[in-house]
Amino acid sequence: MGGKILKRFVPMVAIDVATTEEASALFAALTVEPRPIVKIGMELYYGRGQAVVKEAKRRGFKVFLDLKLYDIPNTVHRAMAAIGLLGVDFTTIHAAGGSEMLAAGLAGIQEGAEMAGVAPAKLLAITQLTSIDEQILHDQQHVACSLIESVQSYAQLAEQVGLAGVVCSAQEIGAIRQVTGPEFLCVTPGIRPANAVRDDQKRVVTPRQARDLGSNGIVVGRPITQSADPAASYQKIQQAFLKEATQ
Ligand code: C5P
Repeated sequence: MGGKILKRFVPMVAIDVATTEEASALFAALTVEPRPIVKIGMELYYGRGQAVVKEAKRRGFKVFLDLKLYDIPNTVHRAMAAIGLLGVDFTTIHAAGGSEMLAAGLAGIQEGAEMAGVAPAKLLAITQLTSIDEQILHDQQHVACSLIESVQSYAQLAEQVGLAGVVCSAQEIGAIRQVTGPEFLCVTPGIRPANAVRDDQKRVVTPRQARDLGSNGIVVGRPITQSADPAASYQKIQQAFLKEATQ
């Protein structure tokens, strides 16, 4: 890392549940210090709406609203303004929508936040989903470059437009940092503590490896949410990610 201290956030816990009751139970279980950031995704948001976001904020959590917007610029602008009004801390948009759409999203989030009198959410770009492999990229999307070149190009585009960073695999961080500046954030899912079950994640790294690879923030779901003691599992992971290793 060239001696530079990387900005690191507390772990982001993916609240991938269907109901308000399940989400509330997890919020209660995770009311510890330092408070994790909670990631609310499409399932919970489409099913239960803004009430869950408001509850998380009322309980003192920072919120990562992961809705991966992708539409024409005008629609994205208006949708992001609505998200901006909610006062969330992070949100996502597909880089594949192009620079005009990304700029519209950024403007929307800033306008909404300004109207609500809150700080604008950090906008993170989705590059290539990890469910896309080289074959799908070439045969279905008809993209001529390699997957990693596509990820690098989307990361550069996002940075040029002024987005805060990308969501990426920890294994992609090195390649992304070759083409972006030091402040550009790499937020990484696909995290499993050593010896934990992998679930459906194919390539995983531990919290400590993610940190050593230069991740600014890790997204962790099931190893915490399906644990018998979510708070203890979270604390272990946050210490591995945030605490300096003792030599
Ligand atoms: O339970 P688990 O730790 O696998 O959850 C990871 C979270 O990160 C889920 O919300 C998943 O949708 C999200 N995610 C991912 N891989 C990506 C992008 C997002 O696992 N490439």
